[in-house]
Amino acid sequence: MASGSGSNAEAIAKYFRGHADVEVDCIVSNKPSAFVLKRAEKLEIDHWYFDRKDFYQTNKLTDQLKSRNIHFVILAGFLWLIPKEFIAAYTDRIINIHPSLLPKYGGKGMYGGHVHEAVIANNEKESGITIHLVDEIYDNGKILKQVKVIVSRDDTPDTLASKIHAIEHKYFPPTIESYVLGEGRQLIGN
Ligand code: GRF
Repeated sequence: MASGSGSNAEAIAKYFRGHADVEVDCIVSNKPSAFVLKRAEKLEIDHWYFDRKDFYQTNKLTDQLKSRNIHFVILAGFLWLIPKEFIAAYTDRIINIHPSLLPKYGGKGMYGGHVHEAVIANNEKESGITIHLVDEIYDNGKILKQVKVIVSRDDTPDTLASKIHAIEHKYFPPTIESYVLGEGRQLIGN
């Protein structure tokens, strides 16, 4: 699930192409104009978008995912809070990536450029990424992996964002792989 450009979604899809045990079944977005849907088309992966009403007032999306036999949900730059019912349907099977070293620079409003701007404004010497399970509180679930990057004196929010994106693309797919084939696999009973 993604709301924006989808570079992580693309990195994940490419990593698992031809994989023996893991398949990216579909890419869904809450924004019809999100570039991630164009990427999905090019990658020849099923994709669609859903609106706020469907997401918060119905079980349509979880029903669709269940009927496609989807075991895990990856949030790759997905900006809406996941409703309780969705989390209950996929307990410990939703993985998010956040572009900071949580718990620092997490929580409501801390996404994308806002995170990097705050890190630079506070003269942090390091930042990084956090890959974690999703529960009902923003950026709160069990941490699966963190990777640090150095923030240099001449970094801007944009240069820091590029550094962070590079490590996201490198570490997110293999972290998903080890979770879904390891600890997470016990949750799906096969
Ligand atoms: C990433 O920086 C991710 O950490 C955050 O949203 C951004 C998504 O980037 N949650 P992209 O759409 O995958 O390029």
